[in-house]
Amino acid sequence: MAETNDHSVANGALLFDPPSNLQNEAHVKSMQQYQKMYKQSIEDPETFWREISAQFYWKSPPTGKFFEYNFDVGKGPISIKWMTGAKTNICYNMLDRHIANGLGDKVAFYWEGNDPNDFGKITYSELLARVSKFSNVLKNLGVSRGDRVAIYMPMILDLSVAMLACARIGAIHSIVFAGYSSESLAERILDATCSAIITADGVWRGTKLLNLKKIVDDALKICDEKGHRVEKCVVVRHLSPSDEIVKTNGDFEEEPEACRPSRKLKINWQPGRDIWWHEMMTSASSECEPEWMDAEDPLFMLYTSGSTGKPKGVLHTIGGYMLYTATTFKYVFDYQPDDVYWCTADVGWITGHSYVTYGPLGNGATGLIFEGTPFYPNAGRFWEIVDKYRVTKFYTAPTAIRALMKFGDDFVKKYKRDSLKILGTVGEPINPEAWLWYYRVVGNSKCAIVDTFWQTETGGHVLTPLPGATPTKPGSATFPFFGVIPALLTEEGKVIEGPGEGYLVFKQPWPSLMRTVYGNQERFETTYFKKFPGYYCTGDGAKRDEDGYIWITGRIDDMVNVSGHLLSTAEVESALITHKSVAEAASVSHPHSIKGECIYCFVTLKQGAEYTNDLVTELKNIVRAKIGPFAQPDFLQNAPALPKTRSGKIMRRILRKIAVGDRNLGDTSTLADESVIDVLFQNRPNNA
Ligand code: PRX
Repeated sequence: MAETNDHSVANGALLFDPPSNLQNEAHVKSMQQYQKMYKQSIEDPETFWREISAQFYWKSPPTGKFFEYNFDVGKGPISIKWMTGAKTNICYNMLDRHIANGLGDKVAFYWEGNDPNDFGKITYSELLARVSKFSNVLKNLGVSRGDRVAIYMPMILDLSVAMLACARIGAIHSIVFAGYSSESLAERILDATCSAIITADGVWRGTKLLNLKKIVDDALKICDEKGHRVEKCVVVRHLSPSDEIVKTNGDFEEEPEACRPSRKLKINWQPGRDIWWHEMMTSASSECEPEWMDAEDPLFMLYTSGSTGKPKGVLHTIGGYMLYTATTFKYVFDYQPDDVYWCTADVGWITGHSYVTYGPLGNGATGLIFEGTPFYPNAGRFWEIVDKYRVTKFYTAPTAIRALMKFGDDFVKKYKRDSLKILGTVGEPINPEAWLWYYRVVGNSKCAIVDTFWQTETGGHVLTPLPGATPTKPGSATFPFFGVIPALLTEEGKVIEGPGEGYLVFKQPWPSLMRTVYGNQERFETTYFKKFPGYYCTGDGAKRDEDGYIWITGRIDDMVNVSGHLLSTAEVESALITHKSVAEAASVSHPHSIKGECIYCFVTLKQGAEYTNDLVTELKNIVRAKIGPFAQPDFLQNAPALPKTRSGKIMRRILRKIAVGDRNLGDTSTLADESVIDVLFQNRPNNA
């Protein structure tokens, strides 16, 4: 059945015009308007962003150039600077500024717990009071401007409070997704030398009780052993009074899985270091003068996987990040004052930083924070919440859409979704089938779909449709946002004009591009700027069609995108080789119907070791323990030997083919020993 607003185009892809009711109220109502604004944004970025910056509060204006940069490694250090010398405070702009404009009683966030009976809300004034109190708590604990603070928390309002409080006093937050293992958490704390950590006792995820404090205890123990002491650990008492907390003074074994779900949580408590959040908050003042920061001072670091296996602390600064997240939020979700906006991403990822917290608050919007999962208590949970709060703009990941699609349409149709106007996706390429289901079933063929391409490094959307202007094609992130100049390059660095496929790069910085890798400028330059001098290199491939639409084809480095989470194959391999029986390991990406991609590992065992089901379980568990449950490989196979070049380099291209059972291997002439190939095909697991 043909939709009212779609029609076929020459290259066979469907084209969907913006819904007309949305178009009438949209900030950008046509492609002509988009093109005009885009042209100005790239020809005169300074004027474009200076005008936008006037909507924010600045204690004093920039002292130097509004915008300066060097993208060319041949011309000195890579540097990106916006509004240097201007003084501001992002927390003031997120809260005080709106309250001064009369929005004090507006809801800043609704909160929905894991349990549908748990919910709450907080207004802008209440949020400011709570943030100010916690800012004073941090100060009383000795945290000051420039200090790094780790945050390892569930999706609760206090998570936003914690990050805004850091921003208010000029401390740099480093949020670690509360699904990472204690080892991963410790690695990040050590890299950033955090002096304090904020966490919660535990959290229910679906029917599972996670002992967050225990993970933090273990991480802090690792830090102690490595000579770095985290002085303070603030713990939110999040579990209900019926969840009994037993404090111990030393180590203890975690309860066996079989005992769960018990409501008893044992946590280690170090007096002096560990402090209850609520105890500190009672005596703290609810007024705190913001620390006036430079636009180019760091706001936060967020770790993202690197192809060497060691995570990179992506550093973002205050002024540019504030402008860009607020502006993309306004245009991409076509923000209107009566919106109820919901982004389902965890704040532990960049999407949660930019589009749960800073982007919406930068506009004085009403957002929603959800603690639970899409499947608990059943697969209708998302749509039940949309119905309950009359959500107007909804933003989620393709992996969630694909997973929910499998449960059928009834879970969706059971709930009212007539409030919805814009549906967004992020994190990985969306397959047209999932796009169409999202459009037709969830959106009732009435909403605009915005497929937003961006990265932890880019800070905000860089390729995206504008909902009232851009005709969309399922699976394409369409065109650049204001200020962004994409290009496709050949392997040799030649610019591809017109239709074609190549490396996706960007020609000049927009305000929220990362500034450096924390503590490692050299790695920053090597990773993103060495391959193609003069460009920021995304690490993604893309193609441009006859109509100029850009389609992301996926990573072109050794990264795997599992359910929208980037992992490096090296990270998984280093976990596997810590097992006593493993001599060598290689992991590659493998297509997965829900996760998009999953991890497929080849392991070569030491002499005498036996490849058994128990070993496979142990290896999966090692990856869970070293990185986190979300990194667990889906497939493992015995590899008596790996395909290597004569110089000993593993040929991953061939392993990717073996993983999917494709015997069409291409050129194998550089292989040192061709006989390994047959053995590897024979050893493929039955379920692969
Ligand atoms: O490969 C691209 C993919 O996710 C990568 C960035 O991952 P991360 O830094 O974790 O940030 C995810 C949330 C912004 C990109 O290099 N990616 C992200 N969005 C899309 C995408 N691939 C295709 N389409 C997208 N819309």
